[in-house]
Amino acid sequence: MAEFRLPKNSQITDGVTHKASADAAKVKNFKIYRWSPDDDAQPRIDSFEIDLDDCGPMVLDALIKIKNEKDSGLTFRRSCREGICGSCSMNIDGTNTLACLKSISDVKGDVKIYPLPHMPVVKDLVPDLSNAYRQLTSIEPWLKNDSEVADGGERRQSPAEREKLDGLWECVLCFSCSTACPSYWWNSDEYLGPAVLLQAYRWISDSRDEQKRERLDALDDSFSLYRCHTIMNCAKTCPKGLNPGKAIAGIKSEMAQR
Ligand code: SF4
Ligand code: FES
Repeated sequence: MAEFRLPKNSQITDGVTHKASADAAKVKNFKIYRWSPDDDAQPRIDSFEIDLDDCGPMVLDALIKIKNEKDSGLTFRRSCREGICGSCSMNIDGTNTLACLKSISDVKGDVKIYPLPHMPVVKDLVPDLSNAYRQLTSIEPWLKNDSEVADGGERRQSPAEREKLDGLWECVLCFSCSTACPSYWWNSDEYLGPAVLLQAYRWISDSRDEQKRERLDALDDSFSLYRCHTIMNCAKTCPKGLNPGKAIAGIKSEMAQR
């Protein structure tokens, strides 16, 4: 009979419980994924009881409080605390989102926090995004043109041309969408995924860019673009309210019209 083994470090164990102080009035339990490459231990779920009367309103506030007051080893990324840098993306209450935009009061019961799914873990809540950034680099996300500007000034756009970038430029590259996408889970070595394809469409749509044809050529194979099966988890999970699936449809439409 065939015998299957779970991959290394896939069996999650119970971890440590950090109790709130006896006089805490409004206690909320945060259950947080922990794993370190520095020992041979399996991942564990640690519990941290936090008094919400003594904590900011967002999940990131609680994580910072836990790191400052209960366990300085807790590892996560964050920078801006206002949904701009995209670095605090993680899986909270079953959904990929930004911890700084996720209100604690929106979570019923325990707040369960895991790293972005289906990515290698560097430590605790920090995923290894090396492959995603390599893919982002591959679409050359910058303005490309060889022509001189007529008056030597700025490259101008009409209001209508500029409007085409709305819904695209707001992306903060948190990769919540790509890591919620089953097609990306299965083919992330070759399929670029919703985050990178939204970026690709941002440059394809820019009236100032002169390499639209080359950009489309680079995506014209069976994996980079066409592994999108319109599952639309990307739009459902995006914490900035964007629709990468629509951007992917836009690239497919451009491809068909060439
Ligand atoms: S489209 Fe949304 S979920 Fe995807 S990377 Fe951009 S901001 Fe994050
Ligand atoms: S800390 Fe910058 S997006 Fe959350």
